[in-house]
Amino acid sequence: MKKILIVGNWKMNKTPSETEAFLKALLPIDFPSVESVICPPFTALVIAQQHLRYSGFLLGAQNMNAHDSGAFTGEISPLMLRELNVSYVILGHSERRTLFAEKDEDIRLKLISALEHGLIPILCVGETLEEREKGLTEEVITKQVHAALRDVPCPSSLVIAYEPVWAIGTGKTATSAEAEEVHTKIHTLLQGLYGMQSAFIRILYGGSMNPQNAEALLQEKHIDGGLIGGASLKAESFRELLTIAQRLS
Ligand code: PGA
Repeated sequence: MKKILIVGNWKMNKTPSETEAFLKALLPIDFPSVESVICPPFTALVIAQQHLRYSGFLLGAQNMNAHDSGAFTGEISPLMLRELNVSYVILGHSERRTLFAEKDEDIRLKLISALEHGLIPILCVGETLEEREKGLTEEVITKQVHAALRDVPCPSSLVIAYEPVWAIGTGKTATSAEAEEVHTKIHTLLQGLYGMQSAFIRILYGGSMNPQNAEALLQEKHIDGGLIGGASLKAESFRELLTIAQRLS
C-alpha cells in the first residue's frame, strides 16, 4: 500500500531564521506511516536540511532549472539541490505557469532532468475556473499530463499534484467528490501511458487543503496525499494535517 504523502509548499514565505523557528516548534514528531516533505524557499534549504536530519521528514524544492550548470542567471540546478539532500522538486506549479510563463515543454525538460538526477518530480496540473465552467477540465488535465510526460519512459518515481487553480490560496476547496473525479481520470491516464507500472505513482490533491477538509479528501480512493500551501505555514496546522494522515494510514 502507498504511504500517504503530505507535502508543504511554503512558496515565497519564511526566511532562514523563520524556518528554524518553525522547525523547532514542529519537531520532534513521529508519524511513521506518513511520508512528510517540506519545500521551503531555496534560501532556507540549508537550515531546513540541518534541522530535518533524523526527523523522518524529507526535503523538497519548489522549482529548478533543467540544466546542470551554465549561464542561467538567478537559476538553481538539480546538482545544487542534490548536494543539499533534496529529494523532491515541485514542477509546473500553476503560479510558475501563469506568473513566470512556464510552458509545458519547459516543464517536460525539467521533469526529465529531475529524474536523471534522482529527484522525485511533483508535477502540478490543474484547470482554471473559466476552463472548469466551460467543461474543459478533463481536456486541460489530459493535455498537461501528456505534454509533461511525452517520450518519458515509465519514471522510477513520480508524483502528480492535481491543483485546481481556482482552489489555490482562495479558501475554496474542490469537494472530495469533485477532486476524486479528476484524480480517477488522472489515474486512468497514467494507466494508459504506463500500464500496471503506473501503480506506484501517487496523485496528490492541492488547493486550500486544511485540517477541516483533509480527512474527507484523503479518504478518497485515488487521493494519495496533499500538496499544502497556506496550512503548511503554521506548525500547528501542519501537525494537525499529519495527524489526520497518520490516522487514516
Ligand atoms: P494552498 O496552496 O494550500 O494555499 O491553496 C497549495 C499550492 O499552491 O500548492
